[in-house]
Amino acid sequence: MEKIIEVNGLEKIYKKKKTKEIVKAVDGVSFDVYRGEILGLLGPNGAGKTTTIKSICGLLKPNGGSVHINGFDSNKERLKAVNYITAVLEGNRNIYWRLTVRENMEYFAGNRGISKKAIQGKIEELLEFFNLKGKENELVSSLSRGMQQKLAIAIALLPGTDVILLDEPTLGLDVETSYEVRELLKKIVNEQGKTIIISTHDMPIVQEICDRAVIINGGKVIADEKVEGLIKLFETRAYCFTVEDELTNQQIMAIENHFLIVNIIENEINVTLEKEDDLYLIMDILKSEQTKIEKIDRTTVDFEQVFMQLIKEGNNHDSAVASH
Ligand SMILES: Nc1ncnc2c1ncn2[C@@H]1O[C@H](COP(=O)(O)OP(=O)(O)OP(=O)(O)O)[C@@H](O)[C@H]1O
Ligand SMILES: [Mg+2]
Repeated sequence: MEKIIEVNGLEKIYKKKKTKEIVKAVDGVSFDVYRGEILGLLGPNGAGKTTTIKSICGLLKPNGGSVHINGFDSNKERLKAVNYITAVLEGNRNIYWRLTVRENMEYFAGNRGISKKAIQGKIEELLEFFNLKGKENELVSSLSRGMQQKLAIAIALLPGTDVILLDEPTLGLDVETSYEVRELLKKIVNEQGKTIIISTHDMPIVQEICDRAVIINGGKVIADEKVEGLIKLFETRAYCFTVEDELTNQQIMAIENHFLIVNIIENEINVTLEKEDDLYLIMDILKSEQTKIEKIDRTTVDFEQVFMQLIKEGNNHDSAVASH
């Protein structure tokens, strides 16, 4: 598959204005984006997602590393590189609330050098596609949050760039609108061959539409895998033990101390093992009190559980390294 974006060893340092404290927001991030995929850029709050996205679309100058878009170095050939990209940043602050829907669309097309006349056909098409027909002469400030978000994505599609970066596109949307946005994004990729990078905390959306996930934590990449592959990998490690008697407090503590993701409800122990040998460890804990096992089942996992486990494992690893 053809690489459309290559991020290599990206670094960004911020200096806090008040305290002069130095924050390494992005610390050597590398990943590739392939043409026609939806890539999820994920991580907990403060992980460095927005900083990475802003560096890719040329809104921030990184302190180190490089970003290539369609082969163009975004630092050395910025204008050529960013020509392939549009971005919708957090909280759709990139649209003008005092302008109407149509005025916004014409303004942003103009910003990209497309004349008002030349863009009319495309505007009609996008209004239709995003179900915004009939709203074109309303002020953005009078639209609902979901409509504003759809308009922001429509504006990103106006110049017809290959790549669209979306930072938290479903933040604050109700379930129905979030679903609508999700379906629209799938359509954009399937019907128009676009490439999308989406940063989100909405794990069901990742499971539903992303091909691959790049997970960052503390400014570093901790996973870069196919979403389906990650779920499968974790499914081989997720078990549910049904036991005859409730566990003693000591047993519960032993299990909880050893495993990061455990859920014990009465006679059921749901646990994600970190390695295969861990199965014997649980058996030993059960055996220590002669607890009878009724059955052992494999359980299904969703992407949210996978994400949480990866973050926890990463944090655990870090604290283990720090204490040495
Ligand atoms: N302008 C800034 N000045 C100083 N520090 C900043 C600035 N912008 C971001 N940071 C810091 O850089 C780190 C990464 O921030 P970033 O916004 O990239 O995270 P994020 O992954 O997008 O988080 P969230 O999920 O909360 O949106 C954080 O520690 C943040 O406090
Ligand atoms: Mg962010």
